[in-house]
Amino acid sequence: MLILGIESSCDETAASVCEDFRNIRSSVISTQIEEHKKYGGVVPEIASRRHCENILEVTKQALREADVTLADLDGIAVTYAPGLIGALLVGVNFAKSLAFAAEKPLIPVHHISGHIAANYICHKELEPPYLCIVASGAHSHLIEVLSYTEFRVIGRTRDDAAGECFDKCARAMGFPYPGGVHIDRAAQNGDFSAFKLPHPVVAGNEFDFSFSGLKTSVINMLHRADQKGETIDKNDLSASIQRTISEIITEKTIGAAEQYGYKKIALAGGVSANSGVRAALSKACDERGFEFYMPELSLCGDNAAMIACQGSYNFAAGITADESLNAVATMPIDSIKF
Ligand code: KG4
Ligand code: ZN
Repeated sequence: MLILGIESSCDETAASVCEDFRNIRSSVISTQIEEHKKYGGVVPEIASRRHCENILEVTKQALREADVTLADLDGIAVTYAPGLIGALLVGVNFAKSLAFAAEKPLIPVHHISGHIAANYICHKELEPPYLCIVASGAHSHLIEVLSYTEFRVIGRTRDDAAGECFDKCARAMGFPYPGGVHIDRAAQNGDFSAFKLPHPVVAGNEFDFSFSGLKTSVINMLHRADQKGETIDKNDLSASIQRTISEIITEKTIGAAEQYGYKKIALAGGVSANSGVRAALSKACDERGFEFYMPELSLCGDNAAMIACQGSYNFAAGITADESLNAVATMPIDSIKF
């Protein structure tokens, strides 16, 4: 089975061809980071325009590199939710037209389910059910992966996502957008216990996250130091932020696994590239004899290989869409429309 995947939910235009669920024949990503960097974050209007300009060439390249034609495909999968609405609309309309012209099934894919599927590409033995922690620029979710196409959210962020917290702290420290990776690099030369930062107390659901208190505390610390004419060591602060976020993610994930009886845990989303989070969760799982899975670095951030892979599972489960498919900016993974 050959599925073409298309992703345009944020600032990466991507296309990929996946064979038989988990084998990636090609994966092309055109990133807009350099352009959005000037503004300190993604400018939705610019993102949509760049997707418009790039999507055809990116798709042609993915087909060329996979050595397939449109006629060879079994279906066309596309991210339709959640994300920036203007950005999603470009991918959805492009995929719809392609499916119509080539007379192929159109397969809707939820972006978060795509991030989870990145693990299938890297770990051929991984099968549901398992618990997945998805941490990205827009989401922090603890998800029961019940089957390839069924998900139940048991915890989510009440405010900022983990990646957003990394990015906002990084911005306050003067690092360019997106700052998560800069904090990761600076942390390599820092003291992880230099600063004591707050762990959130979340009333109600113990598996919900909250990262805004940590962000505010870092911003206040930097302001106070600035007012007093003091300098804060960025490596030390980065290491302390990374350690705190890694601890929060690890504590919640392990707690949820124990409570819900999962011995298999996966990590996904852009923040899964963070060396501190990878190491902390991997160590905690090792200590308890849990199986632990995480994507290789190239599949942590937004890409279309994960969409093509998840699209294959959706297609096998009979999940397809007709020409009325629309993009949706906000849609929880446990209330997918298809
Ligand atoms: O999944 P993703 O590419 O986009 C969304 O779906 O949101 O995630 C992007 C997020 C950004 O916040 C980025 O700073 C963060 O992932 N990120 C990292 C690292 N690499 C990417 N955060 C911490 N450490 C990293 N190495
Ligand atoms: Zn993403």
